[in-house]
Amino acid sequence: MMSKSSIDTANLPVAVVGLGLMGCSIATCLLMAGHPVVAIAPISDDLQHAEKRIKNHLQHSLEQGLITEQPEHYFSRLTISMDYALLKPCRLVIECTLENETIKKSVYEKIESVIAKDALLVSNTSAIPISILQKLTLHPDRFFGLHWAEPSHTTRFLEVICGELSNIAKGEYLYELSHKWRKEPTLVRKDIRGFITNRLMYAMYREAFYLVENGYATIEDIDRACRNNPGYWMTLVGVFRWMDLTGVPAYHNVMKDLFPTLSNSTTVPALIDDIVKKGGRGVANGKGFYNYTPEEAKLWEETFTEFSFDIRELALKYPVDVVDKKLSHDSNEQ
Ligand SMILES: NC(=O)c1ccc[n+]([C@@H]2O[C@H](COP(=O)([O-])OP(=O)(O)OC[C@H]3O[C@@H](n4cnc5c(N)ncnc54)[C@H](O)[C@@H]3O)[C@@H](O)[C@H]2O)c1
Repeated sequence: MMSKSSIDTANLPVAVVGLGLMGCSIATCLLMAGHPVVAIAPISDDLQHAEKRIKNHLQHSLEQGLITEQPEHYFSRLTISMDYALLKPCRLVIECTLENETIKKSVYEKIESVIAKDALLVSNTSAIPISILQKLTLHPDRFFGLHWAEPSHTTRFLEVICGELSNIAKGEYLYELSHKWRKEPTLVRKDIRGFITNRLMYAMYREAFYLVENGYATIEDIDRACRNNPGYWMTLVGVFRWMDLTGVPAYHNVMKDLFPTLSNSTTVPALIDDIVKKGGRGVANGKGFYNYTPEEAKLWEETFTEFSFDIRELALKYPVDVVDKKLSHDSNEQ
């Protein structure tokens, strides 16, 4: 779904602060959309990998046909630096640092000491309520959540989240702008912890832990079931359309008996607690719910990248307005 708006990205300088996994892919997405981009590295470690990662993302995107120009064309609009003063002309700054309020607050102070009063400041936080984060800033009305999905330059997911003090009209502008980034955004008008997808996903994670920890199925079996059931249809439809497609009364019947049996645990499951306490980080260090040799870990990361491009192709074939398009095509032919 492309925007019909008149926003000219080439004249809209934007910035990303924090160049880890997500900061790099968000910067890539913004470059591909035509923005001049300032990428601020809050720690020197970022400088070791940011340029290489963003160039790799652009190269892959070229090979996959997402962009038509050579990576250098986009890269020439990017400035990577540790100097916050370069944020001055930016109209939108996307904070993408660790999920830690103290770190985010110190970063907001540095950003707000430089940017214009009417520039927008947003966070890619996964789960800290926007109403809490915006109170750490000088101008809470211009603060929003922009929740991306990795890898941001290929996924179409984006949540624009308003906190209780956010100016909704500015939120609507962000919603409009994000169509230029080839997103199919959701505007969350009223802040809630976890926003939308994380609330849905964590309900599923909780049930998955319950099933494994109580011996109903193995980790492998749960993963297989997820892949082969919701994994098959969720790129086409969401849960409500799914119920429409497959018969609403059946769901009504099942809910009555099934809901009382679902996990409503409020504690962190022992299974994940043990892994984290032993230093497990997943594919990143080969220790997670599964164990990985360095070669396996690398191949999983590469396979994920390959899949992101493939699923994007399929998703583009089935946009949110797929049926409206078929209807207008049919009426044009009559
Ligand atoms: N990884 C995901 O799939 C994902 C998805 C959605 C949202 N997010 C959110 O995006 C944000 C960044 O996540 P990520 O996965 O890119 O993390 P990451 O660990 O790859 O990067 C974290 C970055 O934080 C910055 N940082 C680290 N220490 C800092 C310090 N002391 N002061 C200032 N900055 C510091 C650095 O730029 C570092 O690269 C988090 O809020 C996370 O919850 C992540």
